[in-house]
Amino acid sequence: MKRLLLFLCATFVLVSCQGNVGRKLAAGGSQDSARAANFDKTYPIVDSLLRVMTLDEKIGQLVLYTSDWDVTGPSIRDGYVDDIRAGRCGNIFNAYTAEYTRKLQEIAVNETRLGIPLLFGYDVIHGFRTIFPINLGISASWDPELIQESARIAAREAAAAGLHWTYSPMCDISVEPRWGRISEGAGEDAFLGSAISRAMVYGYQGSDLEDPMTIAACVKHFAAYGAPQAGRDYNTVDMSERWLREFYLPPYKAAVDAGAQTVMASFNELDGIPATANAHLLTEILRDEWGFDGFVVSDYTGIMEMINHGTSLDLKDASVQALKAGNDMDMQSGGYSEHLKKAVEEGLVSQKTIDEAVRRVLTVKARLGLFDDPYRYCDPEREKAETMTAENLATAKKLAEESCVLLKNDNDCLPLAKGGRVAVIGPLAESADDLLGSWRGAGQVEGVKNIKEAIADYATVVYAKGCELSGSDRSGFAQAVAAARGANAVVMVLGESCDWSGEAASRTSIRLPEIQTELLKAIVNTGKPVTLVLLNGRPLDISEESGLASSILEAWFPGTMGAEAVASLLFGDASPSGRLSVTFPRNIGQVPIYHYAKMTGRPYVHPGAKFESRYLDCENEPLYPFGYGLTYTTFSYSKPTLSATEFGPKGSLSATVTVTNTGARPGTETVQMYIRDLVGSVTRPVRQLKGFERVSLAPGESRQVSFEITPELISFWRRDLTFGPEAGDFQLFIGADAACNDPVTFSYTDR
Ligand code: NOJ
Repeated sequence: MKRLLLFLCATFVLVSCQGNVGRKLAAGGSQDSARAANFDKTYPIVDSLLRVMTLDEKIGQLVLYTSDWDVTGPSIRDGYVDDIRAGRCGNIFNAYTAEYTRKLQEIAVNETRLGIPLLFGYDVIHGFRTIFPINLGISASWDPELIQESARIAAREAAAAGLHWTYSPMCDISVEPRWGRISEGAGEDAFLGSAISRAMVYGYQGSDLEDPMTIAACVKHFAAYGAPQAGRDYNTVDMSERWLREFYLPPYKAAVDAGAQTVMASFNELDGIPATANAHLLTEILRDEWGFDGFVVSDYTGIMEMINHGTSLDLKDASVQALKAGNDMDMQSGGYSEHLKKAVEEGLVSQKTIDEAVRRVLTVKARLGLFDDPYRYCDPEREKAETMTAENLATAKKLAEESCVLLKNDNDCLPLAKGGRVAVIGPLAESADDLLGSWRGAGQVEGVKNIKEAIADYATVVYAKGCELSGSDRSGFAQAVAAARGANAVVMVLGESCDWSGEAASRTSIRLPEIQTELLKAIVNTGKPVTLVLLNGRPLDISEESGLASSILEAWFPGTMGAEAVASLLFGDASPSGRLSVTFPRNIGQVPIYHYAKMTGRPYVHPGAKFESRYLDCENEPLYPFGYGLTYTTFSYSKPTLSATEFGPKGSLSATVTVTNTGARPGTETVQMYIRDLVGSVTRPVRQLKGFERVSLAPGESRQVSFEITPELISFWRRDLTFGPEAGDFQLFIGADAACNDPVTFSYTDR
């Protein structure tokens, strides 16, 4: 039997060598070149295999089961090794290490008739062994280049542990802080989100997917999973096609354009149809409009869940619907395995549909080079050499530093003086585990410093826990107060446990548990300046705490090197440069609140007016706007200048601003450009992020920053649902966050 595969492989190698030119993805290059290079090669081995495969063997390639190494869903199906051996399962997730994946691969290669290699997937979400900050944190760096580097490192570590495929990037835009999975995404904005998902795909897949240091990306969760009603995970999603296309789809598309090989259908329904079997999403938009030619995988038991959704009679019906809609691979439902053969025999699904799905799966395996050498990812020596190297850890620290957002710094309370006596207080100060956040891959807590320990590298620490994360036990307050009294400065580490966000971790309150706020009050009452370090996986309502603490550093869950990063920021070895990628509300009642809101017919412009769009008990503005963040210096902006005040379909104009570091320390500013289309065929946001650039400036230094405004940049989904620009006037704002003001005006003409 093996001779058959050997013969097929020899044919493949010959032809693949001829086609090697032009396979390169442009790392960070233009979307078009990346895409063209990745998709232009054919793999004769795929045709050869399809000609000889039985229906059972074909269906096996459409099946994905979890191993019993890790639990990322509701149930474990026993017997995956037998399934591999019987050719019933061509893909495995949640199994890793070079040694174990080799063992399973040997079963597939040596004990099945055709020896088709397994594909190994895993949730490498913000790192594999070296854990970077959670994705919401990473996005606050506004640094796609460094994010790409973090994904490259994650890919190298994962690939060295036998993995071929990560379930990342998560491209779900969300304005819903109750939803625990907001922690896994890039925040509220499609423009920033697109830059980040593109960077992550380039990072994972590199310039050549056949390079065994790279892994295939999976764009998820397609689509609009980030908009569950009431923020409850897996809940109903419903929105207009226009809203979907303008504010939710761009990051998925950017990842597909960057050459992502796979897409995961989301759990939610959209317009009454579960995404798992939503042909509008999986076929019309993804394949017909965007030209995606990789494969689509369901989410965990997503096909089975269509029975609960109430759109399928049973698992067979669900399987038929999903496959026909464009869902090629069944993760964990067992539906394809159990029912597709019968469905073909009964004429419910055509052989052609099966063949197309199998072709897509085999093509991704071929692109990964698995038919050249199924064990190319299973090298224990490489695994040792690649895992948690000093370089990987240094990048993790840098990205953690860039992810932290300084929300407040009264009287330049930070940075703290080195060598003093610092009281470190709070239920998260001694936790290394929480630093890693949810979806921590194969990250291990052993050897990870906690924040108390990292501060001890800079100062004498007096530690008091004070209270638990929640509950009502105040017995530790007195000791914490005493610690504060005896110190020069206080650092409190408060927030959420790492499992209060992530999958199936929605909250109805986005406040700190009362006990933590009470502890903060007790410590603030000592009169000592209090720095609050927050660990959390969502935008929180910290209206009360922001009035109490002297300074606040939002550190999210910052990863393996998070404690060191936080300490280096607190003591000024590094300066904060993170900017919020999501709006922080004043309270849960303002949610959803985001910077690209519409004007409404009754905008609130007359203070105190009754019949205008506002609340009786709260202002409209958020506590901290999108894009906000401080550092240890200050910046001034000149008014933007334009290269012209008008442009047309073949033209563009540039907007330039001079940014000056007006403080006494070096610092990094993220210069942001927002545009408002004043009149459209449909209502337009009051402003939309359309450009950003990080600039590092020495004290007194100035730099010009320019952005190009093209017809594409001002395009949107017009009244007739075509995408393009409309003639008219626009306001352009450049500044430090979404609340920046003093716009200049330009016009677009369609001549
Ligand atoms: C369910 C999650 O929604 C998805 O993000 C993840 O990739 C799969 N489980 C596999 O663990």
